[in-house]
Amino acid sequence: MPTAQAAAPPWRQQLLADLEALPAARRRLLRSLEPAASAELQPSPAAGTATAPGPLLDLASNDYLGLSRHPAVLAAAAAELAISGLGAGASRLVSGTRPVHLQLEAELAAWLGRERALLFPSGFQANIAAVCSLADRHSLVLADRLIHHSLLAGVRCSGARLQRFTHNDPADLERRLLAARRQRPAGQLLVLCESLYSMEGSSPQLAAVAALCARHGAPLLVDEAHALGVIGAAGRGLAHGLADVAIVSGTFGKAFGSGGAFLACDGLVGEWLLQSSGAFRYTTALAPPLAAGALAALDLIASGSAGTSALLARCERWRQGLAAAGWPRPPGSGPILSVLIGDDDDALRRQRQLEAAGLLCVAIRPPTVPPGTARLRLVLRQDLPCGTLTRLLASLGPPPAPGPYRPNLPPDRHVSC
Ligand SMILES: Cc1ncc(COP(=O)(O)O)c(C=O)c1O
Repeated sequence: MPTAQAAAPPWRQQLLADLEALPAARRRLLRSLEPAASAELQPSPAAGTATAPGPLLDLASNDYLGLSRHPAVLAAAAAELAISGLGAGASRLVSGTRPVHLQLEAELAAWLGRERALLFPSGFQANIAAVCSLADRHSLVLADRLIHHSLLAGVRCSGARLQRFTHNDPADLERRLLAARRQRPAGQLLVLCESLYSMEGSSPQLAAVAALCARHGAPLLVDEAHALGVIGAAGRGLAHGLADVAIVSGTFGKAFGSGGAFLACDGLVGEWLLQSSGAFRYTTALAPPLAAGALAALDLIASGSAGTSALLARCERWRQGLAAAGWPRPPGSGPILSVLIGDDDDALRRQRQLEAAGLLCVAIRPPTVPPGTARLRLVLRQDLPCGTLTRLLASLGPPPAPGPYRPNLPPDRHVSC
């Protein structure tokens, strides 16, 4: 005879309560979408129509150069698939290393002017490895207030103490470096920043940050996930040519149109990573077809035939167009245009309006961004059809009444690590 169902154990009750406490506008949904980069520009559906016909035009993904479908990238991945199979079957230090891994590492290092590059299955993992290689529980990590969650996870893994400095503010960083050196003259420090912030579109004065770090004996780790292939000299990112940057972190999941990631550094740091990093050693090697796709993408980017300069010209036109339509000019110069809305529900409503017009653009809400700063994250691609900006402006609606915009909230309010 079945017994009456036992009450859920306390841990399940807690999960349920935590989920129920989430406001509806902050609930995440997984949706299967069909974004199209260069879909024929279809007329906007009549006002009031719930959904646009056909695929949505992609203003959301990070495939900035459209390389995920570039014939050369696909052909390289397919050829490697035939040679190596799909998965590497083991970690790099056991039997997972293939010639394509070594070739990609060598070409990346040469392209970026660094002595060494090491591949990882994802940027999230590479960032954890990078932080843990340069910081431990005795360290103090100084991080830009808006760095990516993976870097914060790395700090937590390392056991280091964390302090956040004001976003893109070298003066605040310097105050903290000076204070740290006063307290512990020989203490171990690490500074973390990005070169193109994924939710803001902004970039730091990286040369100034690197010089500061060198002056105070602090290694600098720069996450170039969104910059590589797009900004900096010939798409080499902003750390290119800055010898004082200890580690550059890059991913193939964005402009390279593939998947996987790498860290680039000098020979000493590279050897230390190879010898000490559990995140490098105890994981299955990057799938060879992804490595081959990334290598083909690198060749296109490095040869200048991936459309980087056309993309940057479009980014400038869109910034000017938004400003001319009464919106604040989005910060930065790259393909991420942060259009500040403020209110979560308003951001979602405008996302739906754009979708009804056939445009896929995602509302980014807390906790990904600070409360009160919900925004539409417009991501530009090299292969968008002409007329997309006009279509966007026609369906976006007028800018909201100006409200307080506070990207630098008290420490750690908006990010759970
Ligand atoms: C700034 C930044 N760093 C790292 C990552 C992680 O890269 P990956 O997608 O390869 O794990 C991302 C991706 O979301 C990112 O935006």
